[in-house]
Amino acid sequence: MPALGLGTWKSAPNEAYEAVLEALRAGYRHIDCAHIYKNEKEIGDAFARAFREGLVKREDLWVTSKLWNDSHEREEVLPSLKTSLKNLQLDYLDLYLIHWPVAAKKGVDYPKTPDDILSPSEAPLGATWEVMEEALDLGLVRHIGLSNFNRDKIMEIISSARHQPEVNQVEMHPFLPQNPLLDFCKENNIHVTAYAPLGSAYRVSNGEVDYPILLDNETVRKIAEKHQATPAQTAIAWGIHRGTAVIPKSVKKHRIHENFESAKVALDAEDIERLNALEGPYRYTTGVVWTISGSPYTQSDIWDE
Ligand SMILES: NC(=O)c1ccc[n+]([C@@H]2O[C@H](COP(=O)([O-])OP(=O)(O)OC[C@H]3O[C@@H](n4cnc5c(N)ncnc54)[C@H](OP(=O)(O)O)[C@@H]3O)[C@@H](O)[C@H]2O)c1
Repeated sequence: MPALGLGTWKSAPNEAYEAVLEALRAGYRHIDCAHIYKNEKEIGDAFARAFREGLVKREDLWVTSKLWNDSHEREEVLPSLKTSLKNLQLDYLDLYLIHWPVAAKKGVDYPKTPDDILSPSEAPLGATWEVMEEALDLGLVRHIGLSNFNRDKIMEIISSARHQPEVNQVEMHPFLPQNPLLDFCKENNIHVTAYAPLGSAYRVSNGEVDYPILLDNETVRKIAEKHQATPAQTAIAWGIHRGTAVIPKSVKKHRIHENFESAKVALDAEDIERLNALEGPYRYTTGVVWTISGSPYTQSDIWDE
C-alpha cells in the first residue's frame, strides 16, 4: 500500500471528482474511499477519466473502500461491496474494510434512536468477517481489513478468521499516537493506516469536540519552520516516519500538492521525540452517535484509550 493516500471524507461529490484527478496528477497512487462518504460515483468518474487519458494504470493504483455499518448482516455484505465497485467503476478493490465495529439496520446512515442499532448478537462481527473472506476468495477484493477496531475487537476477528485482517485504519496523529494499539497491530502483522492525520480541525470548528487544533500547536509549528515545511507536512511526515500509511484529505489543489510533498520532510530523532511528547490524547472522531443512551455499544467498548 502506498504510504501516502488521499482521504475523501467530507469531499462534496463535485469536489471529490476534481480532487482525485488533481491527486493522481500530483503523484498519489492511493485513494481512500467509503460507501458512506456518498461520493464514490464521482470518484469512479475521476478514475475512469484517469485510466482513459493514461494518467494512471489500474494496476498502479491502490483503492480502499469500506463496508458501512448498515450492511453487516451476512446477506448485505456482497451487495454493498458490489455497489461500491459499480460506483467506483472498478472490477476489484485493493482493500475493503469493515468501517466500524458497530452495526445498524439496513438503510440507517447514522442512528437517531437505539432502535436503529443492531446489537453484537444481532450482527456478530465474525459473521460479517466470513463474508469479507468470501469477497477475497471471489477476487472482488485483494486485501481485507478493519477500521476503528481496538485490541479486543481485533482479537475477536483473529480468533476465528480463515483469512487474517491485513489492515486496521484508525485515527492517529501526534495528539493521538495510540502506541499500544500500533504495537499490537505490528505484532499481529496488521498494517496500520492513520486517518485524520491532520487532526481533522473541522470537528473543532463545528463544535463536535473542544480540543486544541493540532496544526496550531507551537511544537508542530516550530518543527515545521526548522524544516521549511508546513505544520500539515510535519504531521504527515510523523505518520510516515512511524511506518503507518497516512491519508490526509483535501479538496484544495495547493494543499493536495503540499501534503504529497510531506514525504520529503526528513524528521530527525529529536523532532520525533518532541512530537511524541505532545499533550493529549485527543480523539477527534468519537463515534458518539453509536453510543447514545440505550445503545448496546459504549465508548469504552469501542476505544482502548
Ligand atoms: N475509517 C474511518 O472511520 C475514518 C474516519 C475519518 C476519516 N477517515 C479517512 O481519513 C481521511 C482523513 O481524515 P479527515 O478528513 O477526517 O481529517 P484530516 O485529513 O486530518 O483533515 C482534513 C481537514 O484538513 C484540511 N486540510 C487538508 N490539508 C491541509 C493543509 N495542508 N493545511 C491545512 N489544512 C489542511 C482539509 O480542508 P480542505 O479539504 O479544505 O483542504 C480538511 O478540513 C478522511 O478523508 C477519510 O478518507 C476514515
